[in-house]
Amino acid sequence: QVEDVPEFSMTAVLLHHNVTGSEHLHLARDDKNNVFNVSLRTTPMNSTGVAHVLEHVALCGSDRFPVRDPFFKMLDRSMSTFMNAMTGSDYTMYPFSTQNQTDFRNLMSVYLDSVFFPRIKKLDFLQEGWRLEHEKKDDKFSPIVFKGVVFNEMKGVMADPSYLYGTTLLSKLLPDHTYGVCSGGDPAHIPNLTWEDLKQFHASHYHPSNARFITYGDMKLDEHLGIINDKVMKKFTIIDPGTAVPLQPKWDQPRSHTMHCAPNEMAANPDKQTTYSKSYLLHEVSDIFETFSASVISTLLIDGPTSPFYRNLIESGIGSDYSPMTGYHNYQKEATFSVGLQGISDGDVTKVDQLIQDTFMEAAKNGFSKERIEAILHRVELQYKHQSSRFGLGLTFSLMPVWQHGTDPVDSLKMEEIVNKFRQKLDSDDKFLQKKCEEYFVNNKHHLNLTMTPDPGYKVSLEKSEEEQLQSMLGKLSEKDKSQVYEEGLELSNVQQQEEDISCLPTLHVDDIPRKQQNYGLIVQRIKNDLPLITCGQPTNGVSYFNAVLPVNGLNEDLKMFLPLFCDVFTQMGTHLTDYASFSQREDLFTGGLSASVTSSCCHNDPMTSETSVRLSSHCLERNLEQMFQLWAELFNEVNLNDATRLQTLIRQRAQNLANGVAFSGHMFAMASAAMNLAPSAGYSEKFGGLTQVNLMKKVADSNDIDDVIMKLNQIASYMLRINKRDVPRFALHATPSALSSTMTSLEKFVDNIKTARCKLLTPFMTSQMNLLRNTKQLTASKMKLISDPELNGIILKMTLHQLPLPVNFASMCIPTYAPYSHTDNPTLRILGRLMTTKFLHKHIRYRNGRAYGGG
Ligand SMILES: *[C@@H]1O[C@H](CO)[C@@H](O)[C@H](O)[C@H]1NC(C)=O
Ligand SMILES: *[C@@H]1O[C@H](CO)[C@@H](O)[C@H](O)[C@H]1NC(C)=O
Ligand SMILES: *[C@@H]1O[C@H](CO)[C@@H](O)[C@H](O)[C@H]1NC(C)=O
Ligand SMILES: *[C@@H]1O[C@H](CO)[C@@H](O)[C@H](O)[C@H]1NC(C)=O
Ligand SMILES: *[C@@H]1O[C@H](CO)[C@@H](O)[C@H](O)[C@H]1NC(C)=O
Ligand SMILES: *[C@@H]1O[C@H](CO)[C@@H](O)[C@H](O)[C@H]1NC(C)=O
Ligand SMILES: [Zn+2]
Repeated sequence: QVEDVPEFSMTAVLLHHNVTGSEHLHLARDDKNNVFNVSLRTTPMNSTGVAHVLEHVALCGSDRFPVRDPFFKMLDRSMSTFMNAMTGSDYTMYPFSTQNQTDFRNLMSVYLDSVFFPRIKKLDFLQEGWRLEHEKKDDKFSPIVFKGVVFNEMKGVMADPSYLYGTTLLSKLLPDHTYGVCSGGDPAHIPNLTWEDLKQFHASHYHPSNARFITYGDMKLDEHLGIINDKVMKKFTIIDPGTAVPLQPKWDQPRSHTMHCAPNEMAANPDKQTTYSKSYLLHEVSDIFETFSASVISTLLIDGPTSPFYRNLIESGIGSDYSPMTGYHNYQKEATFSVGLQGISDGDVTKVDQLIQDTFMEAAKNGFSKERIEAILHRVELQYKHQSSRFGLGLTFSLMPVWQHGTDPVDSLKMEEIVNKFRQKLDSDDKFLQKKCEEYFVNNKHHLNLTMTPDPGYKVSLEKSEEEQLQSMLGKLSEKDKSQVYEEGLELSNVQQQEEDISCLPTLHVDDIPRKQQNYGLIVQRIKNDLPLITCGQPTNGVSYFNAVLPVNGLNEDLKMFLPLFCDVFTQMGTHLTDYASFSQREDLFTGGLSASVTSSCCHNDPMTSETSVRLSSHCLERNLEQMFQLWAELFNEVNLNDATRLQTLIRQRAQNLANGVAFSGHMFAMASAAMNLAPSAGYSEKFGGLTQVNLMKKVADSNDIDDVIMKLNQIASYMLRINKRDVPRFALHATPSALSSTMTSLEKFVDNIKTARCKLLTPFMTSQMNLLRNTKQLTASKMKLISDPELNGIILKMTLHQLPLPVNFASMCIPTYAPYSHTDNPTLRILGRLMTTKFLHKHIRYRNGRAYGGG
């Protein structure tokens, strides 16, 4: 089947392999960043993590490439722009992308061999899955413990309450088949997986009859097919993989479930840590039109401050933010919708339940405003016009659900057709959306109430049951088994230490890499008031991009701490002319959203000088340029930061998100903390995004003094939103070449509108002083100690410990190199960092030690 898809300027070719039944989708498009992706439908029926462990073990060496971790080893033999493997709830995929044809061929041969002809050796299973091993491998008398990469990975993942909530939700709402189990593997069940199961699972699932291939980009399809045929198809016949997922039988009664998690000590209010949501089973995702309508309805219901759930739930102040998984999900065979609140007190569960039901009734009765629907359809249009450098990857990701479950993937690409059909439907039946709300929610008996409450004993009870499981396994071991545990530990350790010969892997050579960097034609110029501007004309599909950097170095240090909060709320508070709800409506109607963020970067030639700046960015269709800059101008001149209720809502959300991030991104926090005293920019980065910021937001969310916060935000605004001589703003515009000049005109008009500072700087300019050192007071229990080790020639190491109640620990060490961007050592150090990760740390941390998931 060959079809043009004009909205993406591409041609789609769908092929069916007549021998194995395999399918191949080729998306021919004038884009150098070519994508390859092979995916297998993997539908485990228990929580032993079989599909996930197989994803790992497939990458431990194959027939033609018998080396461990070929993807990692390809990193420095390739110019790939993306390389990974992922396990979802009902599929496993192996995608990569690269711009070079030789590289594409190389990677494809490694990928195909790894997926279809992996060795799946016993030792690889032990290393990647789970194993019993002496704590100290070479000490027979040290205790035997569980080790293994996936085992540890999943322990880490499960420590994140949001993940735990999401995976429980899915398994309780769709309990009767593969979604009823944890596909990543539950650490309590992983030790029930055997090597035999794994090999069996590979044979039945990693077969062309159960595979779907995607290629995307400007390389030739017949060449791709030739390689796939040679390396794979020729060697297989057809099987019936039996992996189709049946429909979930519909309930005639709603169900309820209660679960527990560890308390979050970073949460603003320890008494409000309960999460409650209602989730609904909707329709089959193979119905493309239904999928589109339901996703629009979901957006109408929950997105942005004009939506009914935002008004009724978020602004009620009962909780801090939506519950995890809130929204529409179509990556299973059947779509689901979920909505609820987190950060509520135990006693408010029924109240929230009632609010949710009332809101659905209200939507079914009143429907949605025309402008709101228009704004959302505009956003859809902008989304498919916006082309990132990852366009191909993004597109193939989004094809996931429909193709996996038997729909024509090409149909789902025809966005214009779908949107038009939706408009017609609305025109012919003005109650269309209301009826859908009634069908999906009000009258839908297949729904689940899910409550999660913190349990102070949670962590201990997990540890206890792991210990019991371990002891029960150990109890069954004979002396012979025990000595096998010991021997296998040593053998694995031996194998891990052997140097592998990786010359079998294909590689690019220096000659394959062009000496000249591609030139994107950036033009550096100055506009009115001598302000610097960079423009770039590119085929942007009719979208114009605006970026601004507003340095704020002159801002008082105390206020700088509030910059992240300022950036978060700046575009969400509305103005003195437009309330925040209408403002957000206009944002959606004309732009892809206005955003602000704060960064601190080190000066290109002096590591001890930093620039702290606020970055603004937005994009829009060419026809909306004027409106986009009007929105910015209105924010600059009239932003209203004084609405205490609105501000408190945003602060609660922000504090909750930061607190939730700690378990998930512990390594980032550890790195930021280790680096903070070594250079000013690192100090700011920690203050803006590290534990210091989490603590500050916890304090702000807890405090009753909102007036003080309002005052600080206004002080920041009056410094930042005026042009002053000390901190000069810079701009960048990207647009299609023909639209550049009108884009510049709009920008100049905007600049004319910005007021100039009455210019009182808030603090004198401080250069590169390490004035951050004094600011290491922490709110969390943290201890600091200085160690002087004679072996280090008296160098003093500073150690900081942040104690958090997480079952996973994170460690980081930071060494100053004082080689800023333009220093000749800088490129060398960057490459060294990469090589240390792939060639040394990965091996030592992940494999040899056996109890850590990763490092870099
Ligand atoms: C598949 O197609 C090829 C090429 O048309 C043909 O030679 C072959 O017989 C077909 N095989 C089957 C099993 O239909
Ligand atoms: C990529 O591969 C081709 C061979 O297909 C080679 O000639 C070329 O120099 C390589 N490099 C780039 C950046 O395209
Ligand atoms: C693991 O398997 C054993 C034996 O088949 C069974 O008794 C046990 O309940 C299983 N454990 C889990 C956690 O599934
Ligand atoms: C889990 O599922 C796999 C794959 O279907 C199967 O081989 C294995 O026996 C099952 N294990 C348990 C403990 O149920
Ligand atoms: C769960 O759902 C039912 C049906 O919607 C509802 O009546 C009940 O109050 C809910 N349970 C809780 C705990 O809120
Ligand atoms: C790979 O293909 C599958 C469909 O077969 C899809 O689910 C997945 O999103 C794709 N991933 C990427 C990165 O292309
Ligand atoms: Zn994994």
